[in-house]
Amino acid sequence: MREEQQKEAHGAVVADALRQAFEKTELDVLVFDTLDSTNNEAKRRAADLSGGALIVANAQSAGRGRMGRGFFSPQDTGLYFSLMIPIKGELQSAVSLTSVTSVAVMRAIKRIANKQTEIKWVNDLYFHGKKVCGILTEAMSGGETVSLIIGIGINLSTVSFPAELADKAGSLGGEIDKVGLIRAIWEELCPYITDPSNTSWLSDYRDHSCVLGKQIEWDDGTARRRGKADRINEKGELEICAENGEKVVLRTGEISLFLN
Ligand code: BTN
Repeated sequence: MREEQQKEAHGAVVADALRQAFEKTELDVLVFDTLDSTNNEAKRRAADLSGGALIVANAQSAGRGRMGRGFFSPQDTGLYFSLMIPIKGELQSAVSLTSVTSVAVMRAIKRIANKQTEIKWVNDLYFHGKKVCGILTEAMSGGETVSLIIGIGINLSTVSFPAELADKAGSLGGEIDKVGLIRAIWEELCPYITDPSNTSWLSDYRDHSCVLGKQIEWDDGTARRRGKADRINEKGELEICAENGEKVVLRTGEISLFLN
């Protein structure tokens, strides 16, 4: 078999396994070899997929990250997928799903790959000090429904990153069952999607935080500031004691660890 045919055959096997793994759910499963971005595809199809969908790509040519950044998504070595979930309640109750998702992915990675990742507030996952997973959550209205698009990118075995990421990005490493991992993430997320008042994720969100108790930096819109990450409150917000003694509460955004 030619390499191209082998690739197609492998893709078809993965697609079948994913459809089987999700057949008892209400999600439509769409599998692609390459997309610009699975979040973009979810948006393009929002009107047709109002019951919810899982959109997976083997590679992304224009993977998107938070804060307008890109997400490096080479073929075969990572998991790039979006879950499109119709929202029944308030969009407000869906906001914490971004943080919940980091806990769900962390738990699933532990269960399937036996690797313990850490959460860098608000929702990046780190392994051995390098970022291995990013999550981009977006809302989209299609027809009468509003859907939440949760895009998840996990570096499984990527070894060669572009120069600007080389110091920061890493991979989980080892052989990881892709279908099993996507399925496990869905299982870990489900209880929180069905009951947004369930806050049992918070203890893991705090216990596996790699920023609590550390000196951090953040941008308050006008200047870079420094302080100590003190606490994650009941809403998942980060409470900081700033250098000048002021108590600052961050709801979302980005922080960086400040090393003396
Ligand atoms: C970040 O690190 O800032 C978030 C990265 C999110 C990447 C995932 S990969 C699947 C989905 N499609 C995208 O274009 N982005 C998300």
